[in-house]
Formats: sequence, structure tokens, C-alpha cells
Amino acid sequence: MNKVITIDGPSASGKGTLAILLAERLNWKILDSGALYRAFAYFSISENDQKLIEQNLRKISFNIADNSIQVLFENEDISGHLRTEETAIQASKISSLPSTREILLPIQRFFSETSNLIADGRDMGSVVFPNANFKFFLDAAPEVRAKRRYLELQKRGQEVNMHDLINDIVERDKKDRTRELSPLIKTEDSILLDSTNLNQESILAEALQHIKERNIL
Ligand code: DC
Repeated sequence: MNKVITIDGPSASGKGTLAILLAERLNWKILDSGALYRAFAYFSISENDQKLIEQNLRKISFNIADNSIQVLFENEDISGHLRTEETAIQASKISSLPSTREILLPIQRFFSETSNLIADGRDMGSVVFPNANFKFFLDAAPEVRAKRRYLELQKRGQEVNMHDLINDIVERDKKDRTRELSPLIKTEDSILLDSTNLNQESILAEALQHIKERNIL
């Protein structure tokens, strides 16, 4: 039976980075569930048939390169398509549909059948892998998360307003936490990591310490 560590949390909490660092350190596979929702949205732009979309989603794999996740579809890197604003907006819409979550549930679970897995998302510990060996919930103050997003967008050459970013993050949090289906929640059996005042290395060290104490490796 393969092992699973889940990392859930709001956007820009640093869970993606922690997932990459842990996957590299432990030499486990990674599941970026948000990328699957984005891929669903991306395929939906040119395809209506849910069966074909499902077949395409089953061909997706993840690869870590240069500290970021590449999303591969039949060996083609489609990460760039998934990062666009158009895909993000569409992904947010379809992620609240029961039919989308139903299709993605077994596809996400399948990732743990071939390898030990670090699963990153909003409902990894609560819905997709309720029996995970270890569950983290990563959080940080909205201002800090907005600052991270600001620097990220600036690096990509996009001009953004800090005040708008904080409002966006607070608004998205509210939506994520109060939606009816698979809301973002911290399960009772998960460990809270707060990255407000900690850098990536310190968060990784804290996570590894918890994993060591629980003796799951
Ligand atoms: O983390 P992200 O921005 O790549 O996620 C894309 C969208 O999918 C976002 O609107 C939240 C949603 N999502 C979800 O509903 N459940 C998950 N486990 C992961 C992402």
C-alpha cells in the first residue's frame, strides 16, 4: 500500500512549494490537483464530450523541473496553457460542479496507486485521501499571501495593485471555505503549518520534523 501525504490550504499559502520540496526530498510523486481542475477547464474549451475529457485527464502526469511543476499531456508540456487567466477563471467555475468533482475523484486517487504521493489541493485530506498517512494544512495571513502573489506576478511582468490583491484573496478564501461541495476546511487530524513568518526552508524543516515524529517513512 503506497503512502500519501496531503497538503491543503488557501491560495498562495505556499502549499505548492512545500509539495515540490517534500516530493523531491522524499523522492515521492506529486499530485497538483489544482492543475487537474485547470486541465479540465482547458480541455473543455475545445471539447464538449465529458467522456473524452475524462480520457484526456487520465493521460496527465506531473514532472518537477527547476523547482516548478510541469503538467504533461501525452508528453507535451501544457503548463503554460493552464496558467492563463482564462483557464483559471474557467477552472474556478467548473470546480463547483458536482459532475466535475465526481469525474476527478477516481483520477486523483489513481495517482497513489503507482507510487507514494504528495497531494496538494483544497480537499486532499478531507475528501480525496481521507485515510492519508499524514495531513498538513498550510496557512498564512492574507497580506503575506497577497505580497507573495504580487512578487510572482511582477516577475511575470504583470502590473498589479496590492490593495486589489488583498481584496481578491480575502474574497476567494470566503468562496473556497463556504462553498457547498468540498469546501476548504482544516480536518481535525491535520497539522497546521503557518507560513506567515517562515521562509520555505523553515516550513520544509517543520514539515519534515512532523513526518519524522510520526514515523511514517
Ligand atoms: O490551486 P489552483 O489555483 O491551481 O486551483 C485551480 C482551481 O481549482 C481553483 O479555482 C480551486 C479549484 N480546486 C478545487 O476546487 N479543489 C482542489 N483540490 C484543487 C483546486
